[in-house]
Amino acid sequence: MSVSPAAPIDPKIIVALDYASAQPALDIAARLDPALCRVKVGKELFTAAGPALGETLVARGFGVFLDLKFHDIPNTVASACKAAAKLGVWMMNVHASGGGGMLRAAREAVALESRRPKLIAVTVLTSLAQSDLADIGMQGDPAAAVLRLARLAQGAGLDGVVCSAQEARTLRDACGPAFNLVTPGIRLADASAMPAGDDQKRVMTPRAALEAGADYLVIGRPITQSADPIATLQRIQREIGA
Ligand code: C5P
Repeated sequence: MSVSPAAPIDPKIIVALDYASAQPALDIAARLDPALCRVKVGKELFTAAGPALGETLVARGFGVFLDLKFHDIPNTVASACKAAAKLGVWMMNVHASGGGGMLRAAREAVALESRRPKLIAVTVLTSLAQSDLADIGMQGDPAAAVLRLARLAQGAGLDGVVCSAQEARTLRDACGPAFNLVTPGIRLADASAMPAGDDQKRVMTPRAALEAGADYLVIGRPITQSADPIATLQRIQREIGA
């Protein structure tokens, strides 16, 4: 009797390592299993610890999402994406509002790399509500802007977008099953797990986000600032059936 090979594990949770220096990030990474979650290195940690930290996490077997949200002229973004791809990261991102030319330049830059990372685009930050968009001259509700920017990113050949889980269902229908939807703004049903003064506005629970069509959940403070981060991660994994 032949036994079919086990499907490769594709961890859904990306733990945002939003720390001010390398050591706490490495400490928590040492307690995480790279087969069960991925990690995200964002602007704070990258600026403080440098590219070496990303390479260390890659060497430890983690799928690393390099969340630097590049937004500049096409030539500059393409060069930055090329440099980031050389770190061996699993995923990286740019701002869709940088325009079609910038998105295509970024995609072409990473396509030439031997270890091509997934390249996704930020649509509308999950910290922005309708009134915030009006302040910067964007008409309409966030959902309409997200859909417009997701279509732009898909047309430019990107692998997916960062969006709020509240927009995931619409984007899944509009962009098809292969387009990656990465959703921050994840909050646990138990709100006491979050410190006061939360800046995320368009939020959803882990299970609801996956049911709405999200592929990957970016979760930071609900895990990293909880009393027991590893127990919290395990609780979320049980909740989503991972
Ligand atoms: O702590 P919290 O769960 O809110 O962390 C969310 C993470 O996702 C942060 O690292 C933030 O920079 C990132 N992110 C976001 N909104 C986006 C893109 C990334 O909150 N649109």
